[in-house]
Amino acid sequence: MNTLYHDLEKTDDERRQLLYDGHLLVYSPTPGSLALIHHARALAEEAFAPLDPRTAQHEMSVEAYAKILADLKPKFIHHPHSKECIQRMLGELGCNLEQTYFDVPRMRTSTAQGYLTTGIAYAFHPHRDTWYSAPQCQLNWWIPIYPIESDNAMAFHPNYWNRPVRNGSASYNYQEWVKTSRFIASQQVTVDTRKQPRPEEPMELDPQLRVVTKPGGILIFSGAQMHSSVPNTTNSTRFSLDFRTVHLGDFIHNCGAPNIDSECTGTTIEDFLRGSDLQHVSDEITASHLVSQ
Ligand SMILES: [Fe+2]
Repeated sequence: MNTLYHDLEKTDDERRQLLYDGHLLVYSPTPGSLALIHHARALAEEAFAPLDPRTAQHEMSVEAYAKILADLKPKFIHHPHSKECIQRMLGELGCNLEQTYFDVPRMRTSTAQGYLTTGIAYAFHPHRDTWYSAPQCQLNWWIPIYPIESDNAMAFHPNYWNRPVRNGSASYNYQEWVKTSRFIASQQVTVDTRKQPRPEEPMELDPQLRVVTKPGGILIFSGAQMHSSVPNTTNSTRFSLDFRTVHLGDFIHNCGAPNIDSECTGTTIEDFLRGSDLQHVSDEITASHLVSQ
């Protein structure tokens, strides 16, 4: 049984345990999350001007569209204000910023009617982030930038929370993947050839759960949740942002969601920045995690 809690008032320790047990949390927009989406909107609207980013796909070639995203997305990811907004939001929600590490926020676009679903606008097949070297204690934070609806949201597949799936994670190592393939994402406009772990058996996508919040609403879930992009059958592009957090104490003590089917090696921990001062996890911590695999 998975429960979706709305505006749950618990300590961060209690909240993380609920997430590691497979529950989902949704929070109403906070000043920090609203600042973050307003910042994202400003960058997107500047990039697509004079068009509305949500409908611009109907007025330009897919190549021109992909080119705009290839500039816009890194700008948002690396902008110092994006990180400041996240620090603020984590503090507002009661996270201990000395222990909570986050990775840079990604801006995601899900274009309408299958216009662009590869490369810079990759459409995610059902997966767990833990198939991609994410720590078992990774939490995902997902926020709509503009209003969304069920038909352009993301989906959870809760029956797979404790049901293993045959998958390709055994051949995935994050450190290797970074070296060989990430840099070509922006060049792949129509066909995506990057090797990603996938389910290797037929998936039952129903029952599925889609969460629709207002812009700036915050959805938090374990990186071990099975989730996917919903094929966008609306007429407008969905813009959302997401980032991940790791509680360092939980990482060091191997706390987190149970691992039921992930066999990848490597770790994404070196991408995470401390909430208080943006410092990386020490090399010793990363190395000792890799040695223990
Ligand atoms: Fe994911």
